[in-house]
Amino acid sequence: MTDDDVEKGLEGVTVTESTLSNIDGDEGRLIYRGYDITDLAREASYEEVLYLLWYGDLPTEAILTQFREAMAANRGLEDGVLSVVRELARQNAAPMGALRTITSTLAAYDSDAADEADPQNLVANVRKGRRVTAKLPTALAAYVRLRNGNEPVSPRADLDHAANFLYMLNGEKPDPVAAETFDMALVIHADHGLNASTFSAMVTASTLADLHSALVSAVGTLSGSLHGGANQNVMSMLREVDESEKEPADWVEDALEEGRRVPGFGHRVYDVKDPRAVILGEKSEELGEAAGDTKWYDYSTAIERYISEEKGLAPNVDFYSATTYYQMGIPVDVYTPIFTVSRVGGWVAHVLEQYEDNRLIRPRARYTGPTDREFVPLGER
Ligand SMILES: CC(C)(COP(=O)(O)OP(=O)(O)OC[C@H]1O[C@@H](n2cnc3c(N)ncnc32)[C@H](O)[C@@H]1OP(=O)(O)O)[C@@H](O)C(=O)NCCC(=O)NCCS
Repeated sequence: MTDDDVEKGLEGVTVTESTLSNIDGDEGRLIYRGYDITDLAREASYEEVLYLLWYGDLPTEAILTQFREAMAANRGLEDGVLSVVRELARQNAAPMGALRTITSTLAAYDSDAADEADPQNLVANVRKGRRVTAKLPTALAAYVRLRNGNEPVSPRADLDHAANFLYMLNGEKPDPVAAETFDMALVIHADHGLNASTFSAMVTASTLADLHSALVSAVGTLSGSLHGGANQNVMSMLREVDESEKEPADWVEDALEEGRRVPGFGHRVYDVKDPRAVILGEKSEELGEAAGDTKWYDYSTAIERYISEEKGLAPNVDFYSATTYYQMGIPVDVYTPIFTVSRVGGWVAHVLEQYEDNRLIRPRARYTGPTDREFVPLGER
């Protein structure tokens, strides 16, 4: 690369080293710390994956029990945080905006937050990361219930992270299939190399700003439709297809002719099908079959066939997470917040890694504006 090269969108640019996760875009393989995502999705819980990302190895049973207890002990919201959640629900704030504000609010109630004089204090940062990861699902479930006119449900320490979220959302213990599916979705979304939101967390951390500030940057970045926001747009698209009464392939052909992007397709790194889409596609099919109605799955596969033949684009994680969540009865505008409550684990891990070997992230832009303009005083313009 010469000084004059401009890598728009930093495509193909390697900016750091990481031991957290790796995407092989040609093979369609994703690993977290060396473990294949398919094995982790099928065999490991979200708590095991958090431990793996934060501490480097899978926990033993005894360590996992301790870790689960520590996570569960941190789930409750302080009264002040809950009153902010109530106000956001009263204002009907957009869910991702609400989560961004809640993430920021959590800093004010964190007993380690005063430690900003030393943002690289590893032990304090792990405690802060654990608190945010444990509390965000509680805040999200409370937010959704409050805006629907229901009171929040307190977390249950005897349920694991995934099952407890569904319990707090719906007010009843989820059935084992729902709990297992949701846990798998959390595992799948936990980390993904230097995606845009993770990178924005790292940029913020690289200035030696505190962990909460880095997480607030990341939540804002995840909300966009080219990133986490795509899963909601997939479901809106499928509903449009349904209402149009057109064949899904015809609907997509018309949409592409109108110059629309099809949410849930394409990826900066994968050239083949995202392995997470393979796993969630199977789940989506299973859920449809269990309910005796595979309409949404069938629409999805018809669209996948058309886009892959006509555009050579493969589905990404958002394509099948949409119908998976929909068939679990989760409100559409909560899909991106759910992505957030999983990815926060990956953000924490990357911020810890950034602090450990920090260098300020500060690229340059090639200036293309005018030079040598003559200054004209205000009164003479
Ligand atoms: C993810 C995404 C932003 C990656 O973008 P990128 O690497 O910057 O690729 P580009 O936007 O430059 O797209 C390359 C080409 O593929 C096309 N393309 C990419 N994704 C497309 C999509 N979902 N629908 C239609 N066309 C698409 C672009 O129009 C472009 O075609 P052109 O060269 O003829 O203009 C892009 O694929 C996208 O917008 N997908 C839909 C949103 C989404 O699902 N996001 C979640 C990602 S996990």
